[in-house]
Amino acid sequence: TDRYAVIGNPIGHTKSPLIHGSFARATGQDIEYGAIEGSLERFADDVHAFRKAGGLGLNVTAPFKLQALALATERLERAELAGATNALKFEGDRILADNFDGVGLTRDIQSNLGFSLKGARMLVLGSGGAVRGALLPFLAQEPAELVLANRTLPKAVDLAEQFAVHGPVRACAYADLAGERFDIVVNGTSASLKAELPPVPAQTFQNARLAYELAYGKGLTPFLRLARNAGVPKLADGVGMLVEQAAEAFLWWRGVRPDTRAVIERMTIPLV
Ligand code: ATR
Repeated sequence: TDRYAVIGNPIGHTKSPLIHGSFARATGQDIEYGAIEGSLERFADDVHAFRKAGGLGLNVTAPFKLQALALATERLERAELAGATNALKFEGDRILADNFDGVGLTRDIQSNLGFSLKGARMLVLGSGGAVRGALLPFLAQEPAELVLANRTLPKAVDLAEQFAVHGPVRACAYADLAGERFDIVVNGTSASLKAELPPVPAQTFQNARLAYELAYGKGLTPFLRLARNAGVPKLADGVGMLVEQAAEAFLWWRGVRPDTRAVIERMTIPLV
């Protein structure tokens, strides 16, 4: 049996074994997928021990996404640009690092929710690791414009400068958003984890067709509530992104793309 696992700290609440277990059953792949609580001091030792025991791949979650990238012998472009990896593949002495968070999010918005990013005006809130990972896959879909808003404006300015070669992206302070209109608003801040609201003006949602919260399992977060009250017709949280990034990793490891629909449906908590 080929072995895979997710590594993080803490790891107790991870849904990855459930998701990959469903994929394995549905595709008839004989794999074992576990969960490892990585050591904060000796993350590299944990990874190498897993490899020595025959492990073929790891999903990587907080707080190890940067360390895991540093450990890799080969980094795919998405991981390099994200500055983080969420999936490792072991092939002999090679450690390959990719990052499927952004493609997972993009697939969820386009394939599952049915909103095309091509030509769309997009607003993305936040400029941390989650947003960094999403920018290349977003820009690859050729939006009309992608505006990055962040509390600490210089972080958004830096990100926009770094990604400008990949498409039309610019930074903006929250206060300056009031007169602007967007088709899709994505909350990539960690505010919802603290039940906080990023200071986005309500008018910003006026034309929006979709409000997407990257966090999942938090129900109607302050961001989604604001969007709903502003009349946004479609609200989504990050459960689809979670399942889609898992499917991308599964495909990378096993060469088979699992169907995601049933797993997403099973894991979805209604946004009320
Ligand atoms: P992650 O890896 O989850 O993206 P991170 O790198 O710590 O986490 O980034 C968190 C992001 O959420 C940042 O963009 C942060 O804004 P600052 O750069 O100004 O700190 C944003 N954030 C967190 N709490 C917020 C809040 N209450 N309102 C607005 N933005 C918030």
